[in-house]
Amino acid sequence: MYTNEMLESMKKVEAAREANAALEPRRMTAEEKDTLLATYHPDYKQGEFDVLKIGPNKGEKVPTELAALLQANSRVNPADIDLSNPDYDVDVLIIGGGGAGASAAIEADNGGASTMIVTKLRIGDANTMMAEGGIQAADKPNDSPAIHYLDAFGGGHFAAKPELLYKLVNEAPEAILWLNELGVEFDKDKDGTMITTHGGGTSRKRMHAAKDYSGAEIMRTLRDEVLNRNIPVVDFTAAIELILDDDGKAAGAVLMNMETKEILIARAKTVIIATGGAGRLHYQGFPTSNHYGATADGLVLGYRAGAKLLYADTLQYHPTGAAYPEQIFGALVTEKVRSLGAKLINVDGEAFMHPLETRDVSAASIIRECSDRQKGVHTADGVGVWLDTPMIELKNGEGTIEKRIPAMLRMFGKYGIDIRKEPILVYPTLHYQNGGLDITAEGMTNIENLYVAGEAVGGIHGRNRLMGNSLLDIIVFGRNAGRNASAKSKDVELGQLTLDHVEKFAKEMADAGIVTDMVSPKLLPRYTHKK
Ligand code: FUM
Repeated sequence: MYTNEMLESMKKVEAAREANAALEPRRMTAEEKDTLLATYHPDYKQGEFDVLKIGPNKGEKVPTELAALLQANSRVNPADIDLSNPDYDVDVLIIGGGGAGASAAIEADNGGASTMIVTKLRIGDANTMMAEGGIQAADKPNDSPAIHYLDAFGGGHFAAKPELLYKLVNEAPEAILWLNELGVEFDKDKDGTMITTHGGGTSRKRMHAAKDYSGAEIMRTLRDEVLNRNIPVVDFTAAIELILDDDGKAAGAVLMNMETKEILIARAKTVIIATGGAGRLHYQGFPTSNHYGATADGLVLGYRAGAKLLYADTLQYHPTGAAYPEQIFGALVTEKVRSLGAKLINVDGEAFMHPLETRDVSAASIIRECSDRQKGVHTADGVGVWLDTPMIELKNGEGTIEKRIPAMLRMFGKYGIDIRKEPILVYPTLHYQNGGLDITAEGMTNIENLYVAGEAVGGIHGRNRLMGNSLLDIIVFGRNAGRNASAKSKDVELGQLTLDHVEKFAKEMADAGIVTDMVSPKLLPRYTHKK
């Protein structure tokens, strides 16, 4: 039920719509952005981070919930695990069945490696499937990878690892061609030219999309390709510990059947972590746009084995999560809605910011509007600002919403909200883990033969990611890891398998006085209340 405040405010939004649609709100200056972020962005909030006491990033701060999982007990007692007779023996073991894992599997298979995916849910149950707005690639005449690089480097506060970002932008056009060849149905004009739009912080229109279910379309295609190639996928089976060999190199994983809890051993010459993000840890109590399985498992597995993290203290809060109705609280309202012309409007019907600032700036600006400025719109149990969706058809003509963002039309339509006629209420939602495991341009961590791809990687985007660069990175770095792991596996002579690192980590915890009943990786979120 709309509150009276919502109804009154909607009248103001409607009355100001034409004027707001014609308005070009100014961009913030660099100084204004810095002050805004420091004051309102959740990454800067005191008391929400803990300093790690042990492990490769000892002394660095990470979100409290992540620190608890990184410094938790293993799910296994190494003494109980028999590593002598593995259940699986492969060249390339891929942990995770999302877009990065599937891309890695296809390229590892191309390289001739025996390849296997293990996933705690099913292949495709991943953040890739939930991605909406599109995938960036500089493949138009007015654009170039160099311009793409500058946009992303600036948007990420100049913190991206240059060699990773360089790879991302340079291999982007080829990634689009690859997906197109595999069968992804990108939006195209009648002559076959790909339709591209802007995202926040982009200076060129380079967002390629499949309406507003780009991730689902990409995942559908990758999943078909993996299955058509008969690459083995062991589903409902989680990796719960990495296995190293006696030389300290990655050598497989301890697996657990999610239903029966049976323990299985996978021996592998190379391992790729492609476990995705962490939205289901609900940092700072935020809702999330993420898939049910997004619980930072790969970070925990890697960290316990000695792999370094990079920027694990920085998260992305997507500016426009649904704030109403409560059934879809936190669900993603794609940035493409703003790319198509919808503006952010406060309770008084004012367009309070440029709609396509970078995400961290947009999220912080909405939080400021709803807190100190007291210009938010209150629901029965929350607050948000309007995203004035009817502006889209005012600007682009009738039928645009149905054609370009049909999933948004349906998502709100289910609750009786016609986004062609009424604005929708939004508030930031936990969307993306900017940080993760540190890799080289080859995709390898500081542990020999341990690769990482997708959202579990840190450093590709710096301290803030632009829209559409995540669907891109799962393809570029997924394929990269698959190719390199496959090639590397040809030279690997595995030593004796061990879980000594798990025992060593437990001792480090004890020496640091860490006593906890927490076990990790978490695997699934828990929404029931403890007694
Ligand atoms: O807004 C969106 O559609 C999200 C895209 C992304 O995170 O890249």
